[in-house]
Amino acid sequence: MPKPRVAVLISGRGSNMEALIKAARAPGYSAEIALVISNTAEAPGLEIARGLGVEALAISAKPYGKDREAHERAIDAVLVERGIAIVCLAGYMRILTPYLVGRWAGRMLNIHPSLLPAYPGLDTHGRALAAGEPEHGCTVHLVTEVMDDGPVLAQATVPVLPGDDEDALAARVLEQEHRIYPAALAELARKIHLPEGGAKP
Ligand code: GRF
Repeated sequence: MPKPRVAVLISGRGSNMEALIKAARAPGYSAEIALVISNTAEAPGLEIARGLGVEALAISAKPYGKDREAHERAIDAVLVERGIAIVCLAGYMRILTPYLVGRWAGRMLNIHPSLLPAYPGLDTHGRALAAGEPEHGCTVHLVTEVMDDGPVLAQATVPVLPGDDEDALAARVLEQEHRIYPAALAELARKIHLPEGGAKP
């Protein structure tokens, strides 16, 4: 049985991407991480991916100026060309247009460092600390047109401990991100119906 080919979209360090690539090396894993795309050539995650033997491309938004959809069309063309079936956003720091979200509906995942629907957006750890939350965590969800929204596939909760600062809390959450993202992807990949040859329909 061919495994669904997965692309990971990043903008930065790529630790979730790395966790996905390493998890997918297990023989019984239900997906193949076939491609990494960053919107910036400076993303450290690109070199990490290449070092792990995964094709990694920068598709800069700069040539497209304010035309976000045109940038997404360039990304989508590569995704289709590489036979990608599932897209994982992992620290991809651009807001998507309805075009790309619509193209990949039900087959695009995101990881967010909070217990959604609490704390969508940025600075989730700082806001959870400031609010005196006893617990915090992370969420894997399907991507819809609303940022950090969409059906939840997996969540993990961590305690907020006395003396926590943002870095300590972020590290505790990140450990869980690296656990639940590969698990949620594997589960979705098992449900994806692949056409003949494994390529995207
Ligand atoms: C993670 O905290 C993820 O939840 C958020 O952005 C961060 C990306 O980190 N969406 P990394 O690039 O995966 O290390």
